[in-house]
Amino acid sequence: MHLHFPGKLNLFLLLNLVGISLSDPRINRAALICDPSRSSNAAAFIQSFVSAMESLNKQIGPSPFSTSVSSGNSSTVRVYALAQCMNDLSPTDCLLCFAECRTKLPACLPSNSARIFLDGCFLRYDNYSFFNESFGGDDLTVCGPNKLLGFSTSEFKRRVEDVVRNVSLGAVGNGGFCVAEREGDVAAPAVYALGQCWRSLSMGSCKQCLEKAAEELRGCSDAVEARALITGCYMRYSTENFYDEGGGGGDGGGRPNLAVILAIASSVFVAMMFVSFGVYVAHNKLSKRRKERKDLGRLSTTLSKSCLNFKYEVLEKATDYFSPSMKLGQGGSGSVYKGVLHDGTIVAVKRLFFNTRQWVDEFFNEVNLISGIQHKNLVGLLGCSIEGPESLLVYEYVPNKSLDQFLFEKNKTQVISWQQRYKIIVGAAEGLAFLHEGSKFRIIHRDIKSSNILVDEKLEAKIADFGLARCFSHDKTHLSTGIAGTLGYMAPEYLVRGQLTEKADVYSFGVLVLEVICGRKNSVYAPQSGSILQSVWEHFKSNSLAEAVDQGLRDNFPARQASNVLQIGLLCTQASANLRPSMSTVVRMLTDDDHPIPLPMQPPFLNTNVINPDASSKSSSSPFSPSPPPSSSSDPITTTFEPR
Ligand SMILES: *[C@@H]1O[C@H](CO)[C@@H](O)[C@H](O)[C@H]1NC(C)=O
Ligand SMILES: *[C@@H]1O[C@H](CO)[C@@H](O)[C@H](O)[C@H]1NC(C)=O
Ligand SMILES: *[C@@H]1O[C@H](CO)[C@@H](O)[C@H](O)[C@H]1NC(C)=O
Ligand SMILES: *[C@@H]1O[C@H](CO)[C@@H](O)[C@H](O)[C@H]1NC(C)=O
Repeated sequence: MHLHFPGKLNLFLLLNLVGISLSDPRINRAALICDPSRSSNAAAFIQSFVSAMESLNKQIGPSPFSTSVSSGNSSTVRVYALAQCMNDLSPTDCLLCFAECRTKLPACLPSNSARIFLDGCFLRYDNYSFFNESFGGDDLTVCGPNKLLGFSTSEFKRRVEDVVRNVSLGAVGNGGFCVAEREGDVAAPAVYALGQCWRSLSMGSCKQCLEKAAEELRGCSDAVEARALITGCYMRYSTENFYDEGGGGGDGGGRPNLAVILAIASSVFVAMMFVSFGVYVAHNKLSKRRKERKDLGRLSTTLSKSCLNFKYEVLEKATDYFSPSMKLGQGGSGSVYKGVLHDGTIVAVKRLFFNTRQWVDEFFNEVNLISGIQHKNLVGLLGCSIEGPESLLVYEYVPNKSLDQFLFEKNKTQVISWQQRYKIIVGAAEGLAFLHEGSKFRIIHRDIKSSNILVDEKLEAKIADFGLARCFSHDKTHLSTGIAGTLGYMAPEYLVRGQLTEKADVYSFGVLVLEVICGRKNSVYAPQSGSILQSVWEHFKSNSLAEAVDQGLRDNFPARQASNVLQIGLLCTQASANLRPSMSTVVRMLTDDDHPIPLPMQPPFLNTNVINPDASSKSSSSPFSPSPPPSSSSDPITTTFEPR
């Protein structure tokens, strides 16, 4: 399958613009609800789903509301879909918010029905026409998490009561949308509220829906914020002002040209469609293979004899029946629990969200291969359990936390020193170099980011979650969340073309390096902080790299070494994959003072030649033209893990 992108419109530009200059599309997820019933004709259903999303995408953005009914290409399986942005979002933010929903919702496929509530928008699909529904069994209210402290609760309750009532009354005369605020004073903090009905509801149903939402929120009012997620509407109150005061959806003055963004954004969607389609193809291939194979029984016998196999009951006990108190964290593909085995060994047990039984043999093969891979900077995989009701992976337990928590935790008291940061970076580089080149397999991680790097007591970095990419890539869930979950880390050629080589990991590693040294996240969406890649590049151009280093370090770092490390980060994030160094070269550049560090040739995203295609010759201007041909296989989904 070959995908063609219009040459003029460049995804880099979009990401760059998104990274530096937009307001908040409020993509925080309030809830994702998947119906347990599965479509009986998954392939056709997914096809209809994809075309329903495509059709929503044509209208959403300029309009805050869109519905579609799709029966795919030729099939008779219908998918109904509805998207609604909060009215205060600008068209651009609405589009971005929808994009986030659009990439998260496929995690539910092939469920017959699913919905996702973000704080800025809503998306639902179903196998019947639900557009006029206002209530349902899945209605949900989320209070908190934080409780109000140090104020009178009764006064606060009155204020919540006041704003939610006014919102539900005000929305009816206002096209189904309303915001209200009550100022704060010594007695209680300020309260802000927003209500939004889906535009397909009649005003009568809208009123009922918001009244129910308001009633639900009243029940929460010792929490500083709460959300009512109802079938036909959304209501939220908070002590923080979360909505856009301007309201009404106009783009502000200083924003980038909307038409450009929309055009480019649609290429992002093409890319995402491509991904879904790739998944669909992979799904078909796999089902065919499955039909041909009859010896699954034999496999499970092999499996139960294998030392890699853990008994489900044993792990259940070890984790105190997956008690919330044992929960260590939440990853893209599952929750992780601490477990204590019979003999006192502490392990980390990952409980996968999706049912991998379907892929049981692939999964087991992968686990078999990967468990042989050992390195001090990789989190060891000890085994798995695939016979119980859920699939579980058992990992080496790493005390301490993920780099992400370590670096970006709010209210952290202790600044991580330069030496500590440097050690973490070198460790992560060595682990990744080992994955790429150190064993008899070539393993591309595909999801290098700060939350996938664990840091132990001795501040040794350990890369988690590697190597399972290939078996999960057959699964829509993992692929689509992988693509969406880490937008800020994804190499452009991978995002746009699905072209996956080690250089995609090198790119993500580069982003990680810049984050660790600058002490802030490369937020794709945050307007104030802007893209970290952009700002480090600016410092590089003005020959002041050391100024980009985390302010928290004051001057307690070797300026030259810091500039070198940042320069390596920039080398790794160059737009063309073949300009990026290999990980083993990165390790040498980091650890050998005599190893030369070349100057980065290209800025990470923003290539002035891309913005002004006529400004210079095209030969070296397009970040895409010099990229290498797709590696050995042309199917991006299967290039992750190849024996050498
Ligand atoms: C759509 O249907 C046509 C004719 O039924 C078929 O040739 C084509 O391959 C289908 N396309 C997809 C994407 O399934
Ligand atoms: C729609 O999904 C429900 C389960 O949510 C199922 O009972 C029903 O048969 C499905 N309808 C069609 C037309 O597939
Ligand atoms: C929604 O519309 C359908 C017909 O399209 C109708 O049968 C049903 O009663 C309506 N439901 C509500 C809650 O208005
Ligand atoms: C709610 O509406 C009442 C009556 O219109 C008004 O007096 C009050 O100030 C409003 N409160 C807020 C927070 O808007």
